[in-house]
Amino acid sequence: MKQTTPSAVRIVAAYDDGQDARHFELAPLSGESIASAVEPGQFFMLSVPGAGEAAFTYAAPPDARGHVQALVRRVGALTSRLFELEPGAVLGLRGPFGRGWPLAELRAQRVLVIAGGCGLAPLCSAVDHLAARGAGALAVIYGARNPDSQVLGVERGRWSGRFPLLETYDHPDDPDQIRGTPIVRLDEACQALGGAPEAALVCGPELMMTRVAAALRDRGLGAGRIWLSLERRMHCGDGRCGHCYLGPSYVCQDGPTYRLDEFQRLQAESPPRATELVSVHHC
Ligand SMILES: Cc1cc2nc3c(=O)[nH]c(=O)nc-3n(C[C@H](O)[C@H](O)[C@H](O)COP(=O)(O)OP(=O)(O)OC[C@H]3O[C@@H](n4cnc5c(N)ncnc54)[C@H](O)[C@@H]3O)c2cc1C
Ligand code: FES
Repeated sequence: MKQTTPSAVRIVAAYDDGQDARHFELAPLSGESIASAVEPGQFFMLSVPGAGEAAFTYAAPPDARGHVQALVRRVGALTSRLFELEPGAVLGLRGPFGRGWPLAELRAQRVLVIAGGCGLAPLCSAVDHLAARGAGALAVIYGARNPDSQVLGVERGRWSGRFPLLETYDHPDDPDQIRGTPIVRLDEACQALGGAPEAALVCGPELMMTRVAAALRDRGLGAGRIWLSLERRMHCGDGRCGHCYLGPSYVCQDGPTYRLDEFQRLQAESPPRATELVSVHHC
């Protein structure tokens, strides 16, 4: 059942987590409830009083108390207003919406996760899930502009030593840091996995996802084994307004995760749009 009316939540904690990025913990007000069954990769709509409503991914699904984690990048009016709010401020949250990552299909496989910038947020709870499988192998490549712009520091700290986490920087701070896009560490990741990946989950700026997908295809991974998470401007978030179409598909319902072959087919069927739909995880 779609949640069309937001539940009241309050900010219980907030801290800076990367350049112009902030981590928020949101909790339901007493007497309010929020859905607890959330798949990694799904999103919620957050209303900020006086600023409107926007989509954010669950950086972690609601815990037993119903607390939700979100990583927000400041880009415009709504997110700037959110950054001004202190713990205690009340917001509206409805969700979950969309289709998450296909984790059930990846139970015992060698999985490579590749994230760019804030594209790590939609992958964060999928990484936690894959790390806890007890079967298969996992490696993560995380690319950022520079060390200061890396997000989800607590989560990356928690992952350290549990599976290979390979980082890259467009502009490294020191010579030990690897310069380049995530593609420069693809072969190292394959080695760490013990063989070519059997599946890849990718999220980041659209150009990065296109190039990473091509590099994975060059290494023999089929388009049916690569998944992407798209970002489109959302209004209703739940299939009513038609704003987020990709060909005959609504990204808010059929996405935001798509298999690469499915995405390419839908993209070919989608009429070009001026500016609004251009892209994806712009941080
Ligand atoms: C499924 C989904 C999950 C998302 N998850 C997160 C998340 O976890 N963390 C996060 O920080 N952001 C996330 N976003 C993006 C977030 O919804 C936008 O950044 C937010 O709407 C910006 O609102 P604003 O009023 O601050 O900026 P605006 O003033 O609305 O926009 C500022 C600039 O960003 C561009 N922009 C805004 N939204 C989008 C978009 N959806 N696609 C492309 N360009 C856009 C605008 O064109 C403009 O240039 C997600 C979006 C979707 C669709
Ligand atoms: S955002 Fe309204 S249909 Fe997708």
